[in-house]
Amino acid sequence: GAPVTADISALAEGQRLVLEWRGQPIWIVKRSEAILKALPTLDGHLRDPKSENLDQQPAYVRAANPELRSIKPGISVLVGLCTHLGCSPEMKAEIRPEAFDPEWKGGYFCPCHKSRFDMAGRVFQGVPAPINLLVPPHYYADDNTIIIG
Ligand code: FES
Repeated sequence: GAPVTADISALAEGQRLVLEWRGQPIWIVKRSEAILKALPTLDGHLRDPKSENLDQQPAYVRAANPELRSIKPGISVLVGLCTHLGCSPEMKAEIRPEAFDPEWKGGYFCPCHKSRFDMAGRVFQGVPAPINLLVPPHYYADDNTIIIG
C-alpha cells in the first residue's frame, strides 16, 4: 500500500488521530508530560519494557527511546490492533491507577480478553496478548507531518 500522510498540527494533548494504512488502523497520540514520566516506572510490570522484540517496532524507533517507543517523546504512533487476536483496544489516556489495577496508569485496554497496554503500547504481564503493540514504519516530513509507510 501507498504511504499515508498525517497532519498533526491540530492534535491536542491526550487526543488520538486515527488513520488507515494497509487496511489497519493507525493511531497517533499526543502524550502528556505526566504520561511520559509514568511510563518508565511501569517497566517491572511489563513483558518487554525495553522493546527487545525487534519485530514490534522499527530499529530507529527503538534507538530513539526503547521505553517510549517513539521518535519524538510526546507523539506515539501505533497500529491499533491487539496483538492477541486483533481486537481494537480502547484508549484511556488519563492517569487513573485505580481503573483496573494499581500498576496500570492508563493506556490501552482490549475489551475482548482484557489485555492491557501502557501509553507506549507495551503489554503488561499476565494478560493474553503476548507482545507489544506494533509501531509502524514512519518518519517526520516536517514538525507537523508524519508519513506512515
Ligand atoms: Fe485483545 Fe484478546 S484480542 S485480549
